[in-house]
Amino acid sequence: MKLSVFGEKFTGQSGIVELMDDLGTALNENPDMIFMGGGNPGHIQAVEDIFQQRLEDIIADPHQRHSMLGIYQSPQGDKEFRIQIADFLVKNYGWNLTADNIAVSNGSQSAFFALYNMFAGDMPDGSHRSIHLPLSPEYIGYRDIGLSEKFFTATKPTIEILDDNLFKYGVDFSKLQLTEQTAALCVSRPTNPTGNVLTDHEISLLDEMAKAHEIPLIIDGAYGLPFPNILFTDAKAHWNQNTILALSLSKMGLPGLRTGIIVANEEIIQGYTNVNTIVNLACGTLGPALAKQLFNSGEITSLTRDYITPFYQQRSQATLQLFRENLKGLPYHIHKPEGAIFLWLWFKDLPISSKELYQRLKKRGVLIVPGENFFVGIDDDWSHKNECIRVSYVQPADVVKQGVKIIAEEVSKAYSKS
Ligand SMILES: Cc1ncc(COP(=O)(O)O)c(C=O)c1O
Repeated sequence: MKLSVFGEKFTGQSGIVELMDDLGTALNENPDMIFMGGGNPGHIQAVEDIFQQRLEDIIADPHQRHSMLGIYQSPQGDKEFRIQIADFLVKNYGWNLTADNIAVSNGSQSAFFALYNMFAGDMPDGSHRSIHLPLSPEYIGYRDIGLSEKFFTATKPTIEILDDNLFKYGVDFSKLQLTEQTAALCVSRPTNPTGNVLTDHEISLLDEMAKAHEIPLIIDGAYGLPFPNILFTDAKAHWNQNTILALSLSKMGLPGLRTGIIVANEEIIQGYTNVNTIVNLACGTLGPALAKQLFNSGEITSLTRDYITPFYQQRSQATLQLFRENLKGLPYHIHKPEGAIFLWLWFKDLPISSKELYQRLKKRGVLIVPGENFFVGIDDDWSHKNECIRVSYVQPADVVKQGVKIIAEEVSKAYSKS
């Protein structure tokens, strides 16, 4: 097959494709694997029961049923849904926006593909622009999303060592430099993979920098405010005309519905809508139909407050405690868990790479994700890149307990043989 440049890049092997393949194969070959690798949300029965009830309500109503099954919505997304979201954001945060500032996508991943490539890559004047990540490690799913090379640049974080074997990354404003080639700033908040939540102060400084350079600040709120609100620390939601906020229904427990939501100024929303028309024609309707019910009933807030946030907060604390018990005496640090659904562990001067640790754990029946894949935009051989792993804690507690024990055994073996 003779492939285009696009074809070569997107059909070829990339780090992320290989890793996901490997995770998938491992699971197929050994369904009893302890799966602490992927980004799947946890199974919260009470929440799923409510989704079931609301879906039954939709199916029982001929008007809603037909609108969901039999009608192409506009490429910007179901208008009634966009009005609901806009009203919700105005009421809760006082943001100055309307339904024209909202667009729907088939999952936020596809929104990022469109948005990033709208701003970065080869420019009409022959120059080249990149998306800058003010703090990398960042979400692995950005890594291969660019239509051209050198798509991301990044700034290494500051590392603050905290009590009780915790640490926290910060944006290193002394090193963060924007140039004519910077197309946009992007942060996930809370951050996948680390569970970091950028402080309000960091966000406001990034906002000022982006405005001064006339580039957008993109905030990936897949785990964030206002929903699914998987935050265990106080943080203010942020948006203004220069911010692109990307939300998703996935981490509420609905990754199968593939629904993302973009909040941005009207020019960006219009541009995105045109891209979406070409690529997708229209978005799926199941997510918006269900979410409309949740907005109407107020469950969009109560589900997160009563079930989702407490579920992950309890899990993160319990898993942290397990690691503390099992890693006692080893030179480990864990990123302060402030949100999202993972713990990020750092084994300083680990004699083997995180990839090797991943392979050894896979042999022992435990799947984690090696950290080096998350350092998007950092191309040098910073040793820290090979010393971290990401561990999901969404599996049932007894499974997580067993996984933590095996991880600790392998880490201990790796240190003792150095
Ligand atoms: C930080 C972050 N952003 C975006 C996504 C994409 O999610 P979705 O396409 O399901 O909305 C994910 C998925 O894991 C994520 O972790």
